[in-house]
Amino acid sequence: MDPTSRTLRARRLLAFIALVMLVTGVTTVALVHYEMRKFAIVEADDKAKILIEHNHAIQRYYTLVLRPNLMEITKPLRTKEFFDPVWMSATYAVREIGKIFGNQFGMADYYYKESAINARSPENEADDYERAFLETLQADSQIKYKSEIRYFYGKPFAVTMRRGVSLWKPACMRCHSTPDAAPQDMVNRYGSVRSFHRNLGELLTVSSIRIPLSKAFTISNQFALRLSMILLAFLGFFSLILFWAQKLYLFDPLSKTLKKREAALKRSEEKYRDLYDNAPDMFVSVDAKTATIVECNRTLVEVSGYTKQEIIGRSIFDMYTPDSAEYARTILFPKFVKTGVISAEELKIKRKDGSNIDVSLNTSAVRDEKETFEKCLFLFKFKEGENFNHRNTLSISRIII
Ligand code: HEC
Repeated sequence: MDPTSRTLRARRLLAFIALVMLVTGVTTVALVHYEMRKFAIVEADDKAKILIEHNHAIQRYYTLVLRPNLMEITKPLRTKEFFDPVWMSATYAVREIGKIFGNQFGMADYYYKESAINARSPENEADDYERAFLETLQADSQIKYKSEIRYFYGKPFAVTMRRGVSLWKPACMRCHSTPDAAPQDMVNRYGSVRSFHRNLGELLTVSSIRIPLSKAFTISNQFALRLSMILLAFLGFFSLILFWAQKLYLFDPLSKTLKKREAALKRSEEKYRDLYDNAPDMFVSVDAKTATIVECNRTLVEVSGYTKQEIIGRSIFDMYTPDSAEYARTILFPKFVKTGVISAEELKIKRKDGSNIDVSLNTSAVRDEKETFEKCLFLFKFKEGENFNHRNTLSISRIII
């Protein structure tokens, strides 16, 4: 392979390696970013589920332990119409505990709700999203959870919802069937409209919780950015090393060799040009197809009396006397086409001043790199000259023409 195309290939390879590294880097960053976000979401969902289960445990404790116990103890102290949500309503307790929890951690975005349709406390009223899931849960008893990413005031949240509380025992119906049956204190406080006329066994709520994701997302964004910087720096550094190594070990030595070769070629060209021009015999280079002269040496110019400009572009047959031209056209040319060689053929060259010179002609085919026969070298030797060297002609022809 010649050095220029080798250099080009090496450059292409370098660009290809850099591209592969860039694509790998970008893919890695995108993948890490994606996985980190996924992990943040899974983690938020796990946290959400723990908190929901914890709140459910509090509600069960209220319903199964605290309330029955206190009801028993306080029986002599209260009337039938007495009602205090502080210890008599599990939903109330969980909501109030949630407020303390949120304040304690400074979690302004903390959100937990036992969401119901027509909730007794307006604070528990389901939004459209929760309402839709509650209706789904009411229709299908197999579904328990739903997790999704939702945006509130432009911030991302992991929203998890779980099947909530049902009116599981007949005693619940005292306060959830008709206002007449409910304690007067409760009706006074909450009114006689909300959360009445329910059915026994009806699913009342969906436990809905939101965990803010902006912090986790910011961390994953920052990490992706840092990773990109590191990879970019590494890529830049590596490309520099590659570039430098190629230059040092490949391009520089190659261009040195190339220059040396060019210089050697030039020297030999000059040498053969000198030999061609100053040879004691006459050299003519002829186009094989048109028989036109494309080059000749100084000896021919001097001997023929024509200038170089006059000779180049003429047909080789015009250089002969009419007899010789006839002979060359009819006999020598077909022979040359057939065999590729003509040796020691006696011909006459016509000078500008009209006189003739007797010469002996030797020709050889000059082939290019693809072995196509394009030119031939004609050597006219003075008849009396004895210093012709055939091998010399061949080597000249290979280099000059
Ligand atoms: C003595 C009255 C009373 C009884 C008995 C009662 N509740 Fe309630 N319930 C309330 C009040 C008051 C609220 C609203 C409390 C609040 O959130 O401020 C409420 C709210 C609820 C809510 C929230 C949804 C909504 O509709 O507001 C659920 C769920 C609930 N009760 C389930 C039950 C279950 C289950 C039982 C039986 C184990 C039960 N309740 C028994 C008074 C009662």
